[in-house]
Amino acid sequence: MSLTRRAFLQIGCLGLTACSLPKFTLTESDADVDFVLVAEPASVELVPGKQTAALTFNGDYPAPVIRAKQGKRIRIRFINKLNEPTTIHWHGIRIENSMDGVPFLTQPPVQPGEEFIYDFYCPDAGTFWYHPHVNSLVQLGKGLTGTFIVEEAEPLAFDHEAVVQLRDWRLDNEGEFLPLSTPRQAARAGTLGTVKTVNGLIKPALEIPAGGCIRARFVNLDNTRVYHLSFKDYPAQVLAHDGNAIERPYPLESRDTGAGMRLDVGFIAPDEVGKEVIVYDKKGRGFFEIFRFRTVASSLPTRTEIPRLPVNPIPAPDVANAQHLKLVFEWEGALSPVKKDGSVDHSFWTINRRAWEGMSKGAIPAPLATLELGKSYVVEMYNATPHHHPIHMHGITFTVLSSNKREITPYHTDTVLMARNEKVKIGFVADNPGRWMFHCHVVEHMKTGLMGYVSIV
Ligand code: C2O
Ligand code: CU
Ligand code: CU
Repeated sequence: MSLTRRAFLQIGCLGLTACSLPKFTLTESDADVDFVLVAEPASVELVPGKQTAALTFNGDYPAPVIRAKQGKRIRIRFINKLNEPTTIHWHGIRIENSMDGVPFLTQPPVQPGEEFIYDFYCPDAGTFWYHPHVNSLVQLGKGLTGTFIVEEAEPLAFDHEAVVQLRDWRLDNEGEFLPLSTPRQAARAGTLGTVKTVNGLIKPALEIPAGGCIRARFVNLDNTRVYHLSFKDYPAQVLAHDGNAIERPYPLESRDTGAGMRLDVGFIAPDEVGKEVIVYDKKGRGFFEIFRFRTVASSLPTRTEIPRLPVNPIPAPDVANAQHLKLVFEWEGALSPVKKDGSVDHSFWTINRRAWEGMSKGAIPAPLATLELGKSYVVEMYNATPHHHPIHMHGITFTVLSSNKREITPYHTDTVLMARNEKVKIGFVADNPGRWMFHCHVVEHMKTGLMGYVSIV
């Protein structure tokens, strides 16, 4: 591992307060905003010793971790220095529709050289993230993914917080981008990256204070990959799924965390200095190291208890009286993915037999469904495909109620990973008016049909 300046920034912070990155692009004229976020091309080191022409937030990778406070507004000045239009979406925030960052549906795309003020209220605490919603395969694939944290209204008694940002890059040995998508994989599980990183580094060791009580925020910023997160035998507790605290924490064995999903894990670091806690990707019976934590000296008293996170104020759906909807995801991948002229046929996947048509100014396709504001809904989703899909909804945090494949203790989330042939029921109160995207977070799937939106009026 090469210890770059970025590595130092990431692992060099111990203690909660020191972890907030400086708002380094704020100038005096930005006195009325909390954060300045710039999307811009920049060269970053991902393959050791090589430079990659990436797309970045504020000139580097990882992007700045943006921190907001539960129950407060945050105001972010976004500047587009890319050479193409973009928008920023705040994944998992129950946001006002006009701030949701979906081009044409909620705002005009931000043109090169233009800027946009994102100003919104954060009702829920937790680990969220942000990314463009334009040309996603390229913009996310080349680096535009960042972590957005909403701190609990009341501080919690952790000694240290580790933000663990997982993502792959499709790079060759020289650090040049390989094709970001291949039709063959787009019609299957999605095209995987070649260089796996944690906070932009390959298998790093992240420092944690010996004996400390640690909150690890895992964020899957990848376009495709599912991480089967495991600490193997080391005791760790699952505290939150996809940003939302769960009622009863449970021991982490391994948790499948799909593209766009998050996992908050609490654990007590080993007492001795120089000890390691390895985090694995568990595949079948094999454990493959993703990275490790390493203890450094601290004067912390040894802790035994992991704090609980407060559950977010998500309205409970009235399941008994809810209106029911059905969404079936199907696979058209058996059809030839490449047309005669060599172009890709963009309809490998369908929702209720319809592949997403795309949108442009003045051409917004019909919604998947129109929901009545304030009403409870139960959506029966059926993944009738041979591949998994992390299914995500904007603007609403839903409750996963049941599955035909596994035991579910109902929990809140914005993204649910559906296995092949799985049927999942979700419920929610349609309390947030507007047009909300609903899509698979495997970016190639959403780009080839598995996308739509619901309209709440
Ligand atoms: Cu991270 Cu449309 O979503
Ligand atoms: Cu989202
Ligand atoms: Cu999918």
